[in-house]
Amino acid sequence: MIIDILNEKISEILGNDNIRVIRSNRRELCDYQSDDVFKLAKIEHRNPMEIGEEIVEKLNSISDFNEYFDKVEFVRPGFINITVSDKLINKVLRDMMNKPKFGLNKPEKEELFFLDYGGPNVAKPLHVGHMRTAIVGESIKRIISYMGHKTISDVHLGDYGLQIGQVIYGIKKDGIDINDITLEYLEETYPKMSALCKVDEAVKNECATITKELQDGNLEYQKLWKVILEISGNDIKRLYRYLDVSFDLWQGESDAYKYIGKTEEFLNSKNLLEISEGAKIVNVSEESDKLEIPPFLFEKSNGAYLYGTTDLATIYERMERFNPDHILYIVDNRQNLHFEQVFRVCKKSNLTPSTDLEFLGYGTVNGMDGKPYKTRSGDAPKLDNLFNEVKEIFLNKREENKSMEDKDLDIIVNAILKFADLQNSRERDYIFDINKFSNVVGKTGPYILYTDLRIKKILDGTSILDLSDNIYNEVDRNLRLGLTEFNIALNHAFLERKPSYVADYIYNLAVLVNNFYQNNYVLNEKNELKKNDWLYVLSLTNKMLEELLDLIMIKIPTFM
Ligand code: ARG
Repeated sequence: MIIDILNEKISEILGNDNIRVIRSNRRELCDYQSDDVFKLAKIEHRNPMEIGEEIVEKLNSISDFNEYFDKVEFVRPGFINITVSDKLINKVLRDMMNKPKFGLNKPEKEELFFLDYGGPNVAKPLHVGHMRTAIVGESIKRIISYMGHKTISDVHLGDYGLQIGQVIYGIKKDGIDINDITLEYLEETYPKMSALCKVDEAVKNECATITKELQDGNLEYQKLWKVILEISGNDIKRLYRYLDVSFDLWQGESDAYKYIGKTEEFLNSKNLLEISEGAKIVNVSEESDKLEIPPFLFEKSNGAYLYGTTDLATIYERMERFNPDHILYIVDNRQNLHFEQVFRVCKKSNLTPSTDLEFLGYGTVNGMDGKPYKTRSGDAPKLDNLFNEVKEIFLNKREENKSMEDKDLDIIVNAILKFADLQNSRERDYIFDINKFSNVVGKTGPYILYTDLRIKKILDGTSILDLSDNIYNEVDRNLRLGLTEFNIALNHAFLERKPSYVADYIYNLAVLVNNFYQNNYVLNEKNELKKNDWLYVLSLTNKMLEELLDLIMIKIPTFM
């Protein structure tokens, strides 16, 4: 926004694009700066000071200087420092207020992004670790669509793996009737069976056989599987609804089986499948590999398919049905190698000729001990337990004893969890310190919510006229400049597929607006013009905060 305007104006004045500005990192000196003079000096074999002085003189001599600049200076040895005019800032703010998405540019070409996130495993209870893919994935989806692209999301359930064989084994062993299977039963049975398989080889083999027979179409197992899928799927949907995470497609690994045949034919048509010790593999190592990449396993010697087979067949399906420009996988960092193998098969076989396959790994959510997070109850870090724990901690922190509506409380729990998570760069592990993240001061969800509620309170019942060209003091100016940087944060978030840029920007805005209203008593202001301008700025801030918060799935409570 301001950056684009400045660059365009400078090009117009100089007659070329040699000088580009960036946001200044020393704001006490100037708003924008450029060090391109150095580059230019090298190319033209001239003294940078000479060039710099010349350019600054040109910029200073234009007739409409005040429309854009307050001050343009040359600083030795080769910097151009720019302070923009209040008039320009206000012009941009008016534009932002009046245009949808604050005037964000539409992309030159609308692209289709296919997103694969969530990936919960049916019949295993959803736990804390599953939250991150859901939250990060949903937010990336919202950011992409806000930027003006199309998205399709698929939950890609783990619905056909060994855990199903284990649960079916348990059902048969316990003699449970198909009509008596409950969620509680499933949640108890899976961990029991999984533990049993670790110590009893025979049971383990039996579970694997059941899984294979299910995949081969055994009618009894298929019936049981459908019931398990229904019960567990409903609970998964309930938890995602609580987190405001949604999917266009509720497909799973089982849906890939229809495409395995076609995928195999396709690989054979490219002569890529090899037989090795009875298994079907694709060699994916490349000469430049520093670490050896093992072959991609398509089919085991006993005829069983693997995790990679379903992922490849799923890509086959996605290409056939949607032919997206991008397929994004928001998956645990530890699956990096798996996806490297799958992607290499796609490349080698030309299955995805004009589709970018992106592995967007995320780090682990750790407890204070640096190990994967567990709730206080210890061994079962289920999502429901986490929600309750966060609720309790937040309520204990409140000084006010006025009771709160459940709906508001759920909104706050969401804000605490999401802001804790999304402020971290996605690929990094982070320590989930509930105590810290539920505080109302600091870089937390509650701090952001309080900030927005306070603005809303000031704005309540006021009517606002257009913005004048004035700015009244430094905290006022800082907030206004901050608002104009909206597109920079969004572009970063989009290009790097990292919601943390949005979360950071939201936090910075919250700090700026807090400084603003702690120093300026808006409602007591006697000067009507000034009061109106301030209400205008607050109203724009409120609008922007709420639109950005929606990108990280945070709602505003009525009261807290
Ligand atoms: N269900 C898998 C797991 O729990 C995650 C699925 C990720 N998506 C994919 N297309 N493989 O590890």
